[in-house]
Amino acid sequence: MKEWLVYRQSLQGQTIGLVPTMGALHRGHAALVERCRKENDLVVVTIFVNPSQFNDPKDLSRYPRTLEQDLAILEQLGTDHVLVPSAEEMYPEGYRFRLKEDGISNIMEGLHRPGFFEGVMTVVLKLLNLARADKAYFGEKDYQQLQVITDMVSEFFIPTEIIPCKTEREESGLALSSRNALLSDAGRNKAAAIHRVLMESPDIAAARLTLEELGFQVDYIEEHWGRRFAAVFLEGIRLIDNISLKDIHHAAVS
Ligand code: PAF
Repeated sequence: MKEWLVYRQSLQGQTIGLVPTMGALHRGHAALVERCRKENDLVVVTIFVNPSQFNDPKDLSRYPRTLEQDLAILEQLGTDHVLVPSAEEMYPEGYRFRLKEDGISNIMEGLHRPGFFEGVMTVVLKLLNLARADKAYFGEKDYQQLQVITDMVSEFFIPTEIIPCKTEREESGLALSSRNALLSDAGRNKAAAIHRVLMESPDIAAARLTLEELGFQVDYIEEHWGRRFAAVFLEGIRLIDNISLKDIHHAAVS
């Protein structure tokens, strides 16, 4: 990271776009990088499986890691710089310093995964400071994360614009996620029901019931900010998704 910081000093007069990732890249990440490529002179991608945002050590250890493949994808996409810091470089003082939010991070992902948003905000603050990018790109699949980060950047006067990007989906409707790789083929087919049920259910109680009947273990289904959110377990893998309530109404009238 030291070399990068020295090099970063030398970059003047070029716009920089950042795509922070935890690797195991898929088409969803590619869409972020492609947009970043269009909107900036230089594209920086970080790959760091951030231990501080995992409350379950099993989840951390089985998180897919595909570095060589990721680097090949990023080269094809025309990425200028890929930063792959180690945990020691990111947390030289261990977890001595951390950021806490006391509002919207207390619901959904924050409530069900204690420490998750502390870990995310702390690492994203570090990554934003490392890259000092003009723009940083985040997917709407992690909508609550996107909200927390957008508010954090505003609150701390961080001069990076946070760019929200639409969720990329498989044809079946399944939201693209690195965790999908951990599902069996049958699980992947079944997981397509999450999006369908969110879109088709008249309310969250009905959505919960249908998902449970289909064999999902529901962590939560809630509505906030004009959106419907779900977190479910399938084959022991935790999957999240969300949709805009406007899209339900469109689907109902068309
Ligand atoms: O969304 C992710 O992949 C991670 O939460 C992020 C933003 C890269 C921070 O580790």
